[in-house]
Amino acid sequence: SVKNIAVLVGSLREASYNRKVAREMIRLAPEGLQLKIVEIGELPLYNEDLEKAVPDAWKVFRDTMREKDGMIFVTPEYNRSVPGLLKNAIDVGSRPYGKSIWNGKPGAVASVTPGGLGAFGANHHLRQSMVFLNVPVMQQPEAYISNIAGCFDEQGNMISDQLKELLNNFLQSYARWVRQF
Ligand code: FNR
Repeated sequence: SVKNIAVLVGSLREASYNRKVAREMIRLAPEGLQLKIVEIGELPLYNEDLEKAVPDAWKVFRDTMREKDGMIFVTPEYNRSVPGLLKNAIDVGSRPYGKSIWNGKPGAVASVTPGGLGAFGANHHLRQSMVFLNVPVMQQPEAYISNIAGCFDEQGNMISDQLKELLNNFLQSYARWVRQF
C-alpha cells in the first residue's frame, strides 16, 4: 500500500532552495511513497490560550498530519538552529498534551544551505525535538546539503547529479524505514 508522507519545508521564501529540494524529492519519490508538501506558513504562533478556541489553520494542519504515515523535514538553518517557522509547526502539532500528531511517526530530516556546513545545527536541533516527541528519525543516510546555489540553473532545474544521487539514496532508505513502522 502507498504511504502518504508529509513534506514540511522550513522556509517561506519565494525562491527558497529548501522548497526546490522538497519539490525535487516529490519528483524522485520511489514507488510506494506519496510525498506532498503540507504548508505551515499560516499557523498562528503557538499560544496555549488558543486551545480554548482552536484556530482553523491549526485544526486543518493537525487533521492533515494525523492522516499521514510519516514526514520529511526539509529545513534551512537560521543562526545554527531550526527556523521559527518550522519550530512553530512542531509545537502546534505537539499539543494538546497527549494528542501529538508526531507520536510514533517515522521521520527524516534533510537540511539545505547555500553555505558550506550543511545546516548541521538545524538538522540536529530538529532531531533533539523529535527525540522528545517519540519520532523515530531515520539515522542513515544523513542529508546535510551544502552549496545548494550551484545545484539549480536559472530556470530552477536541478543540474547536480551528485544531489540527485543523494536524494535518491535518501528517499529509497526512507521508503524502507517507513515500512518498519
Ligand atoms: C541564515 N542563513 C544561514 N545559513 C547557514 O548555513 N547557517 C546559519 O546559521 C544561517 N543563519 C541564517 C539566519 C537567518 C535569519 C537567515 C535569514 C539566513 C542563510 C540561509 O542558509 C539562506 O538564507 C538560505 O537560502 C535559506 O534557505 P531557503 O530560504 O533558500 O530555503
